[in-house]
Amino acid sequence: MDSNQIRETFLDFFRSKGHRIVPSAPMVVKNDPTLMFTNAGMNQFKDLFLGNSPIRDRRVADSQKCLRVSGKHNDLEEVGLDTYHHTMFEMLGNWSFGDYFKKEAISWAWELLVDVYGLPKERLYATIFEGSPEEGIERDDEAYGYWKRFLPEDHIILGNKHDNFWEMGDTGPCGPCSEIHYDLRSDEERRGLDGRELVNKGHHLVIEIWNLVFMQFNRKADGRLEPLPARHVDTGMGFERLCMVLQGKQSNYDTDVFQPTICRLGEMCGRRYGDDPKTDVAMRVVADHLRAIAFSIADGQLPSNVKAGYVIRRILRRAVRYGYTYLGFDEPFICRLVDGLVAQMGGQFPELVAQRELIVKVIEEEENAFLRTLSTGISLLEGVMSKARSAGSDTIGGSDAFLLYDTYGFPIDLTELIASEGGMKVDTDAFAVELQRQKERSRNAAAVDTDDWVELLPIVESRFVGYDTLESDVRISRYRRVKAKNKTYFQLVFDHTPFYGNSGGQTGDKGYIEAGGERITVTDTLKENNLTIHLVDRLPADLAADFHAVVDAGARAATAANHTATHLLHKALRRVLGTHVEQKGSLVCPDYLRFDFSHFQKVTDEQIREVERLVNADIRSDYALEERRDCPIDEARSMGAMMLFGEKYGERVRVIRYGESVELCGGTHVARTGNIGFFKILSESATSAGVRRIEAVTAQRAAEFVYGLEDTLRGIQQYVNNPSVTQAIKKLVEENAELNKQIEEGKRERIRSIVESIEPTLTEEDGIVLIARQADFLPDIVKGIAFGLKPKFPNLVFVIGSAVGGKPALTVMLGDEIVSRGVDASKVVREAAKEISGGGGGQPFYATAGGKDVAGIEKAIFRAVELIKTQLKR
Ligand code: SER
Repeated sequence: MDSNQIRETFLDFFRSKGHRIVPSAPMVVKNDPTLMFTNAGMNQFKDLFLGNSPIRDRRVADSQKCLRVSGKHNDLEEVGLDTYHHTMFEMLGNWSFGDYFKKEAISWAWELLVDVYGLPKERLYATIFEGSPEEGIERDDEAYGYWKRFLPEDHIILGNKHDNFWEMGDTGPCGPCSEIHYDLRSDEERRGLDGRELVNKGHHLVIEIWNLVFMQFNRKADGRLEPLPARHVDTGMGFERLCMVLQGKQSNYDTDVFQPTICRLGEMCGRRYGDDPKTDVAMRVVADHLRAIAFSIADGQLPSNVKAGYVIRRILRRAVRYGYTYLGFDEPFICRLVDGLVAQMGGQFPELVAQRELIVKVIEEEENAFLRTLSTGISLLEGVMSKARSAGSDTIGGSDAFLLYDTYGFPIDLTELIASEGGMKVDTDAFAVELQRQKERSRNAAAVDTDDWVELLPIVESRFVGYDTLESDVRISRYRRVKAKNKTYFQLVFDHTPFYGNSGGQTGDKGYIEAGGERITVTDTLKENNLTIHLVDRLPADLAADFHAVVDAGARAATAANHTATHLLHKALRRVLGTHVEQKGSLVCPDYLRFDFSHFQKVTDEQIREVERLVNADIRSDYALEERRDCPIDEARSMGAMMLFGEKYGERVRVIRYGESVELCGGTHVARTGNIGFFKILSESATSAGVRRIEAVTAQRAAEFVYGLEDTLRGIQQYVNNPSVTQAIKKLVEENAELNKQIEEGKRERIRSIVESIEPTLTEEDGIVLIARQADFLPDIVKGIAFGLKPKFPNLVFVIGSAVGGKPALTVMLGDEIVSRGVDASKVVREAAKEISGGGGGQPFYATAGGKDVAGIEKAIFRAVELIKTQLKR
């Protein structure tokens, strides 16, 4: 079976058991502060487990793109070294939301693996949770009992909390789990040592393939376990491992999921996979990381210096440096693997096909940048090594290694490798101390302590009523305290709310709630999964009161104008630049809008103007908002709605239409485009390879911006005393150039006459032609005189002090003869400038210095001459 058939078989099986097959959620998580990336299939269902969302489908299955590179589940450093961990992987999963439980989960897993996929029973093992007295949880005898129906007892193994109690993160839904392991060893090896001895022992041929989690608890911030409102099943099977098992391979990388990339990579670098363990690791790293990077970019997460973007950048750099060190690539190479990946996986994941060009461009630019950094880092390291060597040491200090790591992205093993090639070692203990310090620094900087929710009302969803009203009577359903570095504040959830929570690029509403004469300001509104969270600096006196909640209407109207304008802008950009333009990020707030989109060149001034014209024409057309809430996604698609990769859309979506602009959007909008008034682009720039950014304003702000331009223009008109500003300025610039020319000529003339008048007065005494005095000329005149005299007098010693505009300066020019006798003007100047409290430098024949102390000029001249004479005597 090839990998695509394996995936299909899984989905078909669960479809036949009454499951609805849902699409994979994006890999990059939005609206959840506890997660950066999807690290398990269950992430997108978290709110269902917690009871924050109503359950629509009780049985669901999918294949989810996961990335385990941060937080609680982080496999990054293992990837490539072994043959069965990945950064990005697909997790096949089936879920029961308050429906079936252990019995069905276990027997269906068995049926699929043994009866459908045909795996031999004798190679399968199941683990179950042994219980935890300190958590008050008993051994999972129920799961044990069901497994006994299929497996002999010696194939059922008890496991501890680490292996058999699954938690998504430090807080959130969790429960005991039962893992299915598979023994891939040969019959002979299996006879030698029973597979049960190797389960969960890190053996690469006895591996976990499927995890059945029985979600029963919610882990609270204080560590307590609280029973969930209902019991659920969450299973996750490693797709790549399943492919290995079913295709009879001993490594995930030997399956058809990775082999095409590895073969191509081998051709590119002229090495064969399997020939050398070191290059094999590098090939696995590259083949794995390529997928993580390409899929992240397709989901809209570009490499950057912050948060999720930084994690992606680090993954990419890890791949580049393995390729550089072990496969001999010193030019971008990962970008050349993208086409193969698209051909292989594009059928299943259309986002790869649609974003191909962007993925290639972004990766290539990142590779180029890091390859440059690598070579700078390597020369820096060479400098550090030679310094250490000349100090008689064979060790690179921890702080140097840390600098390379932190600033140049050098993993410690790369530094060690380069060091060892130069016969040196690295003080890794000191490096570890530096690393730890940095971690503590960033932990302290980011530390936010969030208490558990205090529930006041049992409510599953905080319904948003703010599309239709800006005021509503609400009750607080839960609240919690947050301790940030500089302040403590509170978060409130209402039973329903007119406040829009920051999401989809639109910033959250502000406003207030009021009860019993007490008014509490809502400083911001956030969205966490399905909860709308209101930030307040203090709690109201009576938490159980009925509050009147009021959104700041002015800010909301300004935001709505910017949001609608963003849709019109998107449409206009696609019309003017082409349909490759796709939203890559946006910010909509009361003051302005920011829109990032894929496009590969600068947008010209003419194109910008054309876009502005189109948007303003749409505004004048005064299209009415046609809004469809709860529109089936297929219907939205047939209306031509733009769907963005990386966005999570449900089965039912909200469609926003103005004229020809049709988008899926949860944001707030104007009733008619005419309300936007006027649209003006402020700037166009690049954010990264292949992504451009436009910032723009609308309504009152746009008008103010134009008034500002007009005021500036009027100011200039008055100043140049001419209504035709362009002509007047052109004339000024031309006149200015002419005047400059005349000034330069005048200066040259002046220098020539000074040089001619000095020349006859100069005589040689004691082997030098000395001219030393104060002369208050401008610096470039002094310089001109010095350079005028130098060619004529090989024994010239020219020391001029000057003070123009209260600024003391010193100039030293030496003839060739003097320089050849070892006198260095720059050293002389540096020393003599101390007399004018200054410093300077230059070349051995010509140097200048500036200073602060005019009174010291005479002394400085004297000191310079004295120094030169002393040196000449030696
Ligand atoms: N949540 C479990 C896991 O990630 C099962 O899907 O392993």
